[in-house]
Amino acid sequence: MAQVLNTPSHSLKEFRILPGYTPPNGNAPNVSLKTRLCRKDDDFLHLHAPFLSAAMQAVTGGDMAIALAQLGGIGILPVSQPTDEQCAKVGQVKRFKAGFQTNILTLAPDQPIAEIVEIIHETGYTTFPVTESGQFHDKLIGILTDKDFDERRDLDCRVASRMKTDVQAGVELNSLSAANELMIRYGRGFLPILSKDGVLQAVVFKKDLDKHLRHPNESIDEQKRLLVGAAVSTHPEDRERVEALIAHEVDVLIIDASDGHTAYQREMIQFIKAHTSAPVIGGNVVTAEGFRFLVESGADAIKVGMGIGSGCTTQEVKATGRGQGTTLMEICAARNELEQKQGAYIPIIADGGISGPAEMSVALALGANAIMMGNFFARYTESQGNLVRNAAGEVVKEYWMEGSMRAHNMRRYAQTRENFFEEGISGYVPHVGSIHDKLPTIIHMLRATLATAGCCTIDELHEHAVLEMQSHTALMDSQIHDIVPTNIDQRIL
Ligand code: IMP
Repeated sequence: MAQVLNTPSHSLKEFRILPGYTPPNGNAPNVSLKTRLCRKDDDFLHLHAPFLSAAMQAVTGGDMAIALAQLGGIGILPVSQPTDEQCAKVGQVKRFKAGFQTNILTLAPDQPIAEIVEIIHETGYTTFPVTESGQFHDKLIGILTDKDFDERRDLDCRVASRMKTDVQAGVELNSLSAANELMIRYGRGFLPILSKDGVLQAVVFKKDLDKHLRHPNESIDEQKRLLVGAAVSTHPEDRERVEALIAHEVDVLIIDASDGHTAYQREMIQFIKAHTSAPVIGGNVVTAEGFRFLVESGADAIKVGMGIGSGCTTQEVKATGRGQGTTLMEICAARNELEQKQGAYIPIIADGGISGPAEMSVALALGANAIMMGNFFARYTESQGNLVRNAAGEVVKEYWMEGSMRAHNMRRYAQTRENFFEEGISGYVPHVGSIHDKLPTIIHMLRATLATAGCCTIDELHEHAVLEMQSHTALMDSQIHDIVPTNIDQRIL
């Protein structure tokens, strides 16, 4: 006979955190959000901000992975793309040097100025390196800016006749502060970096410097390269993908499966563990039994959540899933029990249904070490979704789920071409601007929550947080009521 659990499962939205005593020096700026992402060798891979961008086509590409790692989190590149594309993006992140651009629009000497005027109007760029072939990685012969020609008079001239050839460049330069020094000395806002034989390697823009010099919390490896993760499926053909990703020096592998409590998942984890030393995050599970299964299979962290993603239809079409609050309570209790009995600590990642700082705080307080989000990160300029106008004329970002027709990530749902059905929808989310401008405020909000709870670290929050379930009426009080807001344009979320 089927077993029926009589206790309802709860959403993160139902909980609130009670204040605790905040000691001197316990205010928000003194709170650390450093967290354990997963086990690595005999220690842990740490993040300074507890965020993973979801392994979804609409969310994580090279730009998002770079920006999020700069801000202290980590991007996870989705499996629903060819292996070579996923590996190229891993390479893009690992080779990224803050402020050093290694492939910008480059001109050839024989291009007519009329063509450049069009490029400037289309892209908004105003400074271009000129190389012998017009390819970025070639011998630099000049620089052309929009100030070097007259838009009405010079249309028939060639780039070669208008470009500046007395180019001041850095040679074999690696450090951003050294590049800055040279730009100050030359009085320029743009510095090409050349190899010894004059081949263009990178360019640095002064206007980007501030953005790049200010990342004290970035997620980096031993060689100071940004961290990046990549998803693989449980399917045997992805064993080659695992090997390719490792060859491209990915930092962590995540198994992308809507239901991680399966024999396929165990086989994939065991394959990864036998063939590489890279950490592997298993998931998704929503029960203590599923958690223990993945730990025994060798996972270095466990991702939890089912049926609660913002555009997910799994619960509607399959009736499987669980409220994320209940999932976290049960699995974090199992994690703590395991630690007490065996001394082994397994980080837990809350995945799905988290779109704002209140839910993030509750997930962390319930025991999550980090949070994976799709919808939340899809809103930023750096996500992979296109910027489009919706029917109301607002500029929005496309966001489509991995189980939607558009993503067609059948292997995530153990489906085939013949038996495919959707477990998620396609839609839009608001566009809120660049992650660089907005995420620091969210990070500060989380720090403020911890300070109010009387905790200076996520570990302290796990130990001391007191949460309370809210009645429906109490929740109504906790939202804006009896007032019409006027500042709806200052959107953070
Ligand atoms: P969100 O942040 O609430 O939008 O949830 C994102 C998470 O939903 C992802 O990290 C996945 O775990 C999950 N997910 C992605 N696509 C689908 C889908 O099509 N159906 C169900 N869950 C999905």
